[in-house]
Amino acid sequence: MAITQIRTDWFKRVPLIERYREFMPMTADTPVVSLLEGYTPMIRVDRLASTISDKITLYVKFEGMNPTGSFKDRGMTMAISKAVEAGSKAAICASTGNTAASAAAYSARAGLVCAVILPKGEVALGKVCQSMMHGAKVIAIEGNFDDALNIVLDITRKYPITLVNSLNPYRIEGQKTGAFEICDDLGHAPMYHAIPVGNAGNITAYWAGYKAYKEAGKIDYLPRMLGFQAAKSAPIVDGHPIPHPETIATAIRIGNPAGWKTAEAARDESGGSIEKVTDEEITAAQKLLASTEGVFCEPASAASVAGVIKKAKEGFFTEKCEVVCILTGHGLKDPKRAMEICAPFIELPADTDAVAREMNLI
Ligand code: F0G
Repeated sequence: MAITQIRTDWFKRVPLIERYREFMPMTADTPVVSLLEGYTPMIRVDRLASTISDKITLYVKFEGMNPTGSFKDRGMTMAISKAVEAGSKAAICASTGNTAASAAAYSARAGLVCAVILPKGEVALGKVCQSMMHGAKVIAIEGNFDDALNIVLDITRKYPITLVNSLNPYRIEGQKTGAFEICDDLGHAPMYHAIPVGNAGNITAYWAGYKAYKEAGKIDYLPRMLGFQAAKSAPIVDGHPIPHPETIATAIRIGNPAGWKTAEAARDESGGSIEKVTDEEITAAQKLLASTEGVFCEPASAASVAGVIKKAKEGFFTEKCEVVCILTGHGLKDPKRAMEICAPFIELPADTDAVAREMNLI
């Protein structure tokens, strides 16, 4: 038998919005612009969990395994498909990096022009690089993410360009699929869903996804949503916009989230909470995940794990339960900063004994 005839169905992936078509705003005319996103691994991390609490079974859903390295691809496949259906020729977004890379890639795939507006000096090189490689117009402004989003909103009000930030409802629709995959993998909803909160689109989308699955009879109960913001970029926790947000987790360095109200609704309807974690807690969680479980996520993503660690220390988990942390993006986005928190590597001459000595073998 020719090798090409052997079980090719093993390799078969369906575009995300096709796979969950019944839950998506698809019409007969919606084109499917896809890079075969989704199907991200939900990894059970027992070794890490044992250092946190004897009550929790912990899973991390590694969204860094999406085509452009973040969860944004789930929403972008839907948003760009709808943009093409509507006859749009151009897309624009403000971004701390991941949305930009995703918008640039899916625009390239669809043959759209794309512009990405970034806060100057605050976006990791990997993401600027992706946006440029995909042929987007990259504009860095002297301002923060909130300033960039205001400019993009202004432009899309004045000119016929499609906004692909999470204010675009199709982004939220697509991002619901993360919740569907979790429930499909577990066979039920988790008890707790931990997630970083920046512009607050993703917590909104996951909550909508869980609710849609419950309404469809696919799950019996809903999880409690545990959102985490960085301590000095925590407008929802503090109850007011933060004019100059700060955090090493640049993806969630946002002072006035567009999804503020819907994030609060997800928190309150689910009986959950939105809390703060410090940069130190975020960094420790990022390193712990990478070194104890082999999962390398970016700092913003580690806020979810940092939050679960914090809550466990406070004695929050009193009964056995399942917790899913969303690791929203890949650590390779910003290797430079990651290397700064590791011990330096060793340089030696090309000599076996020197290497063996360094390894304490002789
Ligand atoms: N984690 C990562 C890795 C992100 O890139 C973002 C948002 C979030 C979490 C927060 O998600 O905004 O839906 O609450 N990044 C946006 C961007 C702002 O431009 O890439 P959210």
